[in-house]
Amino acid sequence: MADTPMTGRFFDTRAAYTMFVTATDEKPRVAERLGEQAELIEIQPPGLRVLDAGMGDATVLTHLMRRLHRSLPHIPWLVVAKEISIEDVRQALAKLPDRLTEHPETVFVITNMRFSEAPTLTPSNEGATPVWRDVALEGSTSLDFTDQIRELLPTLADDWRVKTSPISGNPVYERPAVLVLYRRDREFLLRSLIPKPGTEPTGFDLVIAAQSYRARTSVDKKVGGVLAPLARALVPGGRLVGVHSYGNDPGLEIVQGVWPGEHPFPHRRAEILAEARNRLGDGFALPNLSDEEALFSYRLHTMPSDETEHIGTSTLVAAFTAAAYVAQIDEPRLSAAMAGGTYLDATNRVIDRHGAVWFNDEMYVIVKR
Ligand SMILES: C[S@@+](CC[C@H](N)C(=O)[O-])C[C@H]1O[C@@H](n2cnc3c(N)ncnc32)[C@H](O)[C@@H]1O
Repeated sequence: MADTPMTGRFFDTRAAYTMFVTATDEKPRVAERLGEQAELIEIQPPGLRVLDAGMGDATVLTHLMRRLHRSLPHIPWLVVAKEISIEDVRQALAKLPDRLTEHPETVFVITNMRFSEAPTLTPSNEGATPVWRDVALEGSTSLDFTDQIRELLPTLADDWRVKTSPISGNPVYERPAVLVLYRRDREFLLRSLIPKPGTEPTGFDLVIAAQSYRARTSVDKKVGGVLAPLARALVPGGRLVGVHSYGNDPGLEIVQGVWPGEHPFPHRRAEILAEARNRLGDGFALPNLSDEEALFSYRLHTMPSDETEHIGTSTLVAAFTAAAYVAQIDEPRLSAAMAGGTYLDATNRVIDRHGAVWFNDEMYVIVKR
């Protein structure tokens, strides 16, 4: 997430994220959009290079890798993923063995470094030497890879230790760390894609910035702290795809039913891109997507069928929890709302009105000329 000062504890626990990922189809929908953008890229040897700036639990990333495998089954690729949370790293690594089995020509890199550092895998503080682990996985089955990755976890937990930044209050790494994974039986073929400490960084063909900053962060920080350093890591013709929540949906109606006047999504893509134009200059194209191209919706899975008159409490709780999560309501306000019962009525009214709960996301693209 963007480095921003926070007041109160942000509603951002593991459980809430995991629940949201499985309760909605947002992550596969985002991956679909990324797949469409990837098709517009002209890939050059030695292969495709992808940077996921804010991997989370890698649900988006692994869905995208499945799509990429279908369209580019024999193209080698390098995927660099930035993630500070060891819990997310653990979940992501659990999804990797299947990807390495289906697409053996994969170099997968995870780093805990910041937005400005991750693209080059180089810490800005010259005194800081990254802990760099280069792991060539033996064998060829997903179980071979699962076993070896599991053995790495205790060491990674140590590498991924965080402290709280005295300036922002956000978690920051104790030591910068890089984990490089690939299959030993493809090492020769992948050699030019495998990053090594201290070597000239490669640029990226596709940069993913999906839910990479908090919605209430200033435009200045969204662009200056997150998008601009990521865009500068693109190769000519490379595309950065940003995705954030948009509102104007039943999810926001639920939130505004409980917290009248709440406006959780203050910036539209036009504002973000105007600031990007200021900071990045003419070396980048900012395609003017229509709403039809930029907006897409996703839904909550657990919904009553049309015939059901009574909406169960668990459905109401799931809908409310997802809506509050998307709106990034902080924990004290969330607990206060859930201590009373009115949130259930507010949610019920919205579901009654629409018959379903869906959410809108908005995407934008930055292309390096
Ligand atoms: C590192 S970021 C995003 C990770 C990954 N790119 C993804 O989309 O799942 C993870 C954080 O983004 C926020 N987040 C994820 N999905 C969101 C959504 N649909 N709406 C609002 N915030 C979201 C949450 O605060 C979460 O902890």
